[in-house]
Amino acid sequence: MDQNLFLKKQFNNEGYSIIKNFLKEDIVKKINQELDGMFSQVLFNGFNKGSITLDQTYPREAITTPCINIKSINLMELIIDVFNLVVDDEKKKNYVVTSVMIFTEKKNPNPLKFHTDLRRGMYRAQIYLKGGDKNSGGFRYIKNSNNLNHGISHELSHTELEKYKKDIVDLTGTEGDLIMFDSFGFHGKYPCLNERRTILLEFQPSDSDYPKTQIDFNGSLMTNKVLSNLNIFIHNNNKNDHMLDNYKNNYLINFKIWLSIITNVTKIALKEGLKKINIKINRKLNKIIKKFTF
Ligand SMILES: [Fe+2]
Repeated sequence: MDQNLFLKKQFNNEGYSIIKNFLKEDIVKKINQELDGMFSQVLFNGFNKGSITLDQTYPREAITTPCINIKSINLMELIIDVFNLVVDDEKKKNYVVTSVMIFTEKKNPNPLKFHTDLRRGMYRAQIYLKGGDKNSGGFRYIKNSNNLNHGISHELSHTELEKYKKDIVDLTGTEGDLIMFDSFGFHGKYPCLNERRTILLEFQPSDSDYPKTQIDFNGSLMTNKVLSNLNIFIHNNNKNDHMLDNYKNNYLINFKIWLSIITNVTKIALKEGLKKINIKINRKLNKIIKKFTF
């Protein structure tokens, strides 16, 4: 059987699939060079060339409007290619792109526990740009869990996880690998101590009630390929209630996150400074005491 056909069948039946080297090494390198710059530029309003810091206890940043700002590749053409791989031909007319996000994450010692997104018909695709192994946020999936009529609302309990443990599939990978998964099924990820960078795409039926984000367009990406597939980027959901929309709509959120980071760093620096001063005073006092003792 043709390899792509096999992978598509696996995705349709068991809920997951991984395509190795979907993006070639030189393309990944180009994207990463551009992202190095964007992840080092702080954004407070979420609409310019830079990244926002997410409210976490470990470093986690996101590019909120990649289609406007990424220049190293035509991201909209990439999205079309992934859409065509993930969505069945007979469903293509009814499906739309509901989110495009680029993330970086590191120094997170905790695995993402197995959970369901509980959104029937929603598919996600994730491309590793950096990391993806057991120390850098490799993905995990419980095969066939997409077909269950489970009543689990989000995270699996210990007992539930024991029941499905034998079906856990390891989807660790390397730069350029593409994972597609039905996020109604149970999924999680390994700890992310070393950096993991990903492009995360999401597709839904256009009439679903789940959160969707509006995809921002960049005129320079409007090639014939993009123009003839424009319908997949258009939907009428204007609620702006998807995961990152809150950061885009309210710049004060990011301002508060940065204020708390600066406050914490200042507190630690002051504490360390005071410690050093105390040590110096103690040394001098000890010298004086010794002088007077002998
Ligand atoms: Fe999830």
